[in-house]
Amino acid sequence: MSKKILILPGDGIGPEIVAEAVKVLTCLRDDFGLALELETALVGGAAYDASSHPLPAATLDLARAADAVLLGAVGGPKWEPLPIAVRPEKGLLGLRAALGLFANLRPAILYPQLAAASTLRAEVVAGLDLMIVRELTGGIYFGQPRGVETLASGERRGINTLVYTESEIERICRVAFDIAMRRGRRLCSVDKANVLECTELWREVATRVGRDYPEVTLTHLYVDNAAMQLVRAPKQFDVMVTTNMFGDILSDCAAMLTGSIGMLPSASLDASARGMYEPIHGSAPDIAGRGVANPLATILSVAMMLRYSLGAPELATRIEAAVGAVLDQGLRTADIAAAGTEQVGTAAMGDAILAALRTEAA
Ligand code: IPM
Ligand code: MG
Repeated sequence: MSKKILILPGDGIGPEIVAEAVKVLTCLRDDFGLALELETALVGGAAYDASSHPLPAATLDLARAADAVLLGAVGGPKWEPLPIAVRPEKGLLGLRAALGLFANLRPAILYPQLAAASTLRAEVVAGLDLMIVRELTGGIYFGQPRGVETLASGERRGINTLVYTESEIERICRVAFDIAMRRGRRLCSVDKANVLECTELWREVATRVGRDYPEVTLTHLYVDNAAMQLVRAPKQFDVMVTTNMFGDILSDCAAMLTGSIGMLPSASLDASARGMYEPIHGSAPDIAGRGVANPLATILSVAMMLRYSLGAPELATRIEAAVGAVLDQGLRTADIAAAGTEQVGTAAMGDAILAALRTEAA
């Protein structure tokens, strides 16, 4: 039976990078016999412009009916003056919540060809391969009460609430332990248990779940120390698990260890591994429309989709190998350019990946 994929290009560089990922999906369908049906819809600012809402009901219905969703990016300065409730980001958060995508997997892998692209010394990052597991549908992003209220004095007060139930903590920790079992069997849970009761509970639950995984070595770090350790000695980590907001911050930090945020894919999964796949870099409005954005994070997101939602790990490996091959050829988009390499644009990078894939197919 063919799998339904919903394509949500979104805003900024989203449409450009997603176009390259769609070329890859089409190639998998036509040259590798993967049964796929692709459908496209609006989300984010593009959806707001067309229908005054960043997540139109039609888009949500298609997402619910799909086996997997591929998303480019949302947001941009054009929509910043809008109220938070209808900003492009709400489209993304609404999708995550409505689809129950509580487990966000953000791998940070340094391709050996890009060791010089990191701002950290090569020996600190060479061989880096870590996985951040971020809770995605709870915590301060969704907690109530929230908002800005006006006090009797006339002064305004802003409120957001950090809240986690034990079951929310337990299910994300189980995902992280399961992943750790398939990797290096080391899991670091990140919290702020010295100050925040909610994350004191997080640590307690993580420890309890850990008793079911005696082969995994569980450690705990406060988030401030975790941020420091990530740039001091990132290779000490195998898998990290943390809250929605801490995971947002730490994953950007981890991304830069690899040289460019333009290389990093992500998967957001529900309890049965249905998922939404997106590059973690965002809409980059400063370079949108110029054909210079790096499509590799989006293409690698397709690889994650094949592995986690479409049951085609061998095709995932082929895509990852194609990315490696193209980097070996010396092709680089502007964000990862270096002396002695050939700078190419978004479409040329996508075409090179296709050529590498087809070479493998032949
Ligand atoms: C991310 C992004 C989003 C987040 C924004 C765009 C809402 O930063 O996916 O990391 O904060 O989760
Ligand atoms: Mg982020």
